Amino acid sequence: MQFIVEFMKQPKEIGAIAPSSIYLARKMTPEKLLCDAKVVVELGAGMGHFTEEIVRKKPHGCKVIVFETNPLFSEGLAEQYRSREDVLVLLETAENLPLILRGLGIEHVDLIVSGLPFSSFEIEKANTILNGVHEVLNANGTFLAFQYSKYRKKIFERVFGSVTHERELRNLPPAYVLECRKEL
Ligand SMILES: C[S@@+](CC[C@H](N)C(=O)[O-])C[C@H]1O[C@@H](n2cnc3c(N)ncnc32)[C@H](O)[C@@H]1O
Repeated sequence: MQFIVEFMKQPKEIGAIAPSSIYLARKMTPEKLLCDAKVVVELGAGMGHFTEEIVRKKPHGCKVIVFETNPLFSEGLAEQYRSREDVLVLLETAENLPLILRGLGIEHVDLIVSGLPFSSFEIEKANTILNGVHEVLNANGTFLAFQYSKYRKKIFERVFGSVTHERELRNLPPAYVLECRKEL
């Protein structure tokens, strides 16, 4: 209910009428990418379905930085993870990703997981975020983003070269998980 109310207030920013399903959350947080990670970033966490999976699967000592612009969601997650030194929830836009990480003394990130509604963003905003993601990913890093259509896949390809995708039908609506790797 809370999610729908926030969607009605800010449809373009929220970009979905319901939080992602557990099936999509599992696909967005593969153990093989999390098991060796030292720093993981999540962009657009909403009510934290992906955050929960990341925190559950990540190795001890791996830091998780969450960017969420909606104050209600951000404050809720900050409260939920208040006692954890390895999870930092920021009321912050993904556009400032490189700047914020520099401020935290973090040079590179192993995995970035995005729930951002790129299809409803202005193209300049989408490009700023994607360029920032590319900048902060380490050489073997991966960027995972889900989208409800492949309409904007080409903007991911412009930044990352080849982008693969998988479908998750057990989500409302069904979603594509785009996997982008930093080209060396
Ligand atoms: C489609 S919801 C996804 C929420 C959650 N990851 C899920 O899958 O259930 C998109 C989320 O991105 C957040 N968001 C939108 N623009 C953002 C931005 N520029 N920076 C960080 N978060 C943003 C919204 O507030 C919203 O919570």
